[in-house]
Amino acid sequence: MQLTVIGTGYVGLVTGACLADVGNDVICVDIDKAKITKLQRNILPISEPGLQDIVERCQADSRLSFTVNIAEGVKASEIIFICVGTPNTNTGTINLDAVKTIIKYVREQATSPKIVVMKSTVLPGTNAKLLDMLNAEGASHTILSNPEFLREGCAVKDFMEPDRVLIGHHENVSMLKLYKIYAAFIAIGVPVINMSLEDAEMAKYAANCFLAMKISYANQLAMICETVGADVLKVLEGIKHDARIGDQFLNPGFGYGGSCFPKDIEAFVAFAQNIDCPATFAEAAKLVNYNMFKLAVEKVREASGGLKGKTIGILGLAFKPETDDIRHSIGVHLADYLVSHGARVQVYDPEAMKNTWGLLRGAVTYANDPYTAADCADTLVLCTEWDEFNEINWVEMKSVMKGCAFVDGRNMFDGKTLESVGFKYTGVGV
Ligand code: UGA
Repeated sequence: MQLTVIGTGYVGLVTGACLADVGNDVICVDIDKAKITKLQRNILPISEPGLQDIVERCQADSRLSFTVNIAEGVKASEIIFICVGTPNTNTGTINLDAVKTIIKYVREQATSPKIVVMKSTVLPGTNAKLLDMLNAEGASHTILSNPEFLREGCAVKDFMEPDRVLIGHHENVSMLKLYKIYAAFIAIGVPVINMSLEDAEMAKYAANCFLAMKISYANQLAMICETVGADVLKVLEGIKHDARIGDQFLNPGFGYGGSCFPKDIEAFVAFAQNIDCPATFAEAAKLVNYNMFKLAVEKVREASGGLKGKTIGILGLAFKPETDDIRHSIGVHLADYLVSHGARVQVYDPEAMKNTWGLLRGAVTYANDPYTAADCADTLVLCTEWDEFNEINWVEMKSVMKGCAFVDGRNMFDGKTLESVGFKYTGVGV
């Protein structure tokens, strides 16, 4: 089937490439000319396992193309996926400018009825209003809500093997056409669930708020465990075997980051307040997450004996492993805070350092490896649990440092092992 995907960020690029890989002809559109020119040459703006191969393969087979010409994209396909950003505004709600611009384009450029598939995260009630805008001049376009649940770092796998596909719709003909696109997924047993537009919009926020609440719950337990002298990892082991609780998204650390949870929780809290139905649990998740950053700062301050004049190494700037994304990254926020409080900061990340230049260059020292980040440091802080940190030789690491404090913001390492080679170890809730 001929498809158009507008927006080539994480969601759009993965959606376009994967839909091409399962046999569709896909045109990806973006207003960023430099990005599109690079994509045409198979140079990807993001680092995502497996994506490079798919883009190269599908472009070579002429099933995937990239353009800045939105009119061409709109005219070419009956089905148009919208995958542009919906960032927060100052008031916590979301900015729909990019989405509305595309709706306007579709309204002006379409010469036949279109099915707009909304993958961008939008608050409940938004798609119904966008549909009114789309058909304001009497056209008969339709909108489907098809929220995305992929995670950065394993986005291709999540897209190709989703837990479920949600299709929010207001009429059946367009819904059945989207069903056909997901036929390859249905064939491998993926449940496709039909619902109203509002149900699907709500489900996206319900999922992200629930996951953020799980993380914040584990983090709150960690803080309580520290106070009572319990080990949160043991406590969690004691509850995770209960199938009703499960073992995912309960890893304590310095808090959740990324482009989704902070934004979506903030937007949902503001939305719920506006309709006089406070989202109390989501508010609590947000507050705990804020407190985790304060806890991170206090742990580093205590481990280092103050901040001013201290040398602090940071391992990890990406908001999580397997991505170079630094949006709402604890490592970046911490580096910034430490510098502004008089510390000398040395950072290392295998993928994300280039993306921090605009924020940190000049203020921190960039290291080529973990040992250089620790060179003469009073304290070493781990903010992202990159797999390559498992290769660290801790005896060597200790020998290059001035001090011996190691603050493990992801509970990645066993404290006793590190203490046996001379480190003073601090984890989160352990
Ligand atoms: C999240 C959701 O997991 C996806 O399902 C959703 O599609 C996506 O948001 C979105 O709305 O687009 P993502 O932000 O890529 O995906 O990353 P996650 O793997 O969910 O991690 C988010 C943050 O939570 C990271 O900072 C991670 O380190 C942290 N986290 C995760 C914890 O602190 N503890 C955990 O147990 C799990």
